[in-house]
Amino acid sequence: MIRYRYFYIVLALPLLVKLSSAQSKKFVCSYSPSKADSINYQPDNIPLQVCPYVIVKAFSFPNVVGRQLLFSDNEKIAFSRVVSSVRKRSKTARVVASIDGSARDFTITSNAIVRRQAFVQAAVAMLLELDADGIELNWKASRNSGNDRITMVQLLQDLRQAVKAVNKSISRNRELWFRGSLHPKVLEVAYNMFDVCQLVDHVTLDPSTAESLENAHAPLYGTPIVLPFSLPLLGNIIDLANGFNTTTQRWIDEGCAPKKLLLGIGLHGIGRVYSPGLAPFVGNKVHLLNPEGTYLEQRELCKKIREDDWNYAWDEYGAMPYVTKALQNGLVERISYEDLDSLRLKMNMVEQKRFGGIYIDYVHSDDIYGRCGQPYLLIAYLSSRVRSIPSDIGFAIEWNE
Ligand SMILES: *[C@@H]1O[C@H](CO)[C@@H](O)[C@H](O)[C@H]1NC(C)=O
Ligand SMILES: *[C@@H]1O[C@H](CO)[C@@H](O)[C@H](O)[C@H]1NC(C)=O
Repeated sequence: MIRYRYFYIVLALPLLVKLSSAQSKKFVCSYSPSKADSINYQPDNIPLQVCPYVIVKAFSFPNVVGRQLLFSDNEKIAFSRVVSSVRKRSKTARVVASIDGSARDFTITSNAIVRRQAFVQAAVAMLLELDADGIELNWKASRNSGNDRITMVQLLQDLRQAVKAVNKSISRNRELWFRGSLHPKVLEVAYNMFDVCQLVDHVTLDPSTAESLENAHAPLYGTPIVLPFSLPLLGNIIDLANGFNTTTQRWIDEGCAPKKLLLGIGLHGIGRVYSPGLAPFVGNKVHLLNPEGTYLEQRELCKKIREDDWNYAWDEYGAMPYVTKALQNGLVERISYEDLDSLRLKMNMVEQKRFGGIYIDYVHSDDIYGRCGQPYLLIAYLSSRVRSIPSDIGFAIEWNE
């Protein structure tokens, strides 16, 4: 008897694996109308054969007009241009509208029933009138936004219900996404991670919210602090738990299904110019001397770091490359960036943790004109990695979620 049952399970497995492999990993490209416009990169330039999902960034938080909340007309026009370009070229590609807002914007809106309803109405209009396939909330939570936790869940519950209703009335799949932080301090205070994850279709994990290390702005692992003495319980090595391997795991450990998580990958570097003389005063954490830094898109960066005089280096904790150069005025410039090696290690983690996929910031940040070699080199690599992730039995076992 027992043997028979075992036999059935073995027979059923190939079927389950086959069913589950139909659920492939998502590959999402983000597009910023304002940034793309400035380099004359049009919606028609988005390569839909590699980008089956396009997320448009972003709508500013809607304005209060009487009892209504209204999105900006110009942003609606820019969004519609992307939707019509995508619909014209593909029957299957999907477009998601991202909505930015500070924690304060979102909390004030979610707290009052009338405002909350108005927001839900505006969001539904985005699905129906602007024909979006999904909406993403970029609720910019901060370290002191702990009292947003309840109102965030309320707003997401209402939005989920509304999206579900649209789902039903028009038989096309519409989704609700939520942008999640990868900052250890924000994760501690700002989210009911389990509830948020339950209520949305995907959580997009934003690499720009990470805590920078000395040499890496999107670190895979944190740099441990080694103390000259040993602390009770902690020992002498302190792990700040600020690398992606740990911060993404926080979402999973709080009960979020890995397949709901999409890891964000920024195709840019961060440059910092600083005075080496001041470095000892900040414990050599020179990112503290210039916290903002300069944002350099891959297509500019790849040329810049080919110039003379750069010293190439690899940050073994962050698992990212960086370059440094002494400037003539006594200052030092340092640029942390992504290359095929750092992306390979990030994708190994995506595979190992069985995330639902990745999103790229931004499709037009890559070397789109091929000035440093093959056009769209990094996106092509990432896309091939996502496509090659084997469907594993683990997915079949997760089927009851
Ligand atoms: C809409 O329907 C699709 C399946 O068709 C489902 O995956 C998705 O979760 C639904 N969205 C909401 C918000 O209910
Ligand atoms: C990365 O995270 C996984 C899951 O928590 C863990 O098993 C693994 O040891 C971590 N890798 C490193 C190098 O810390």
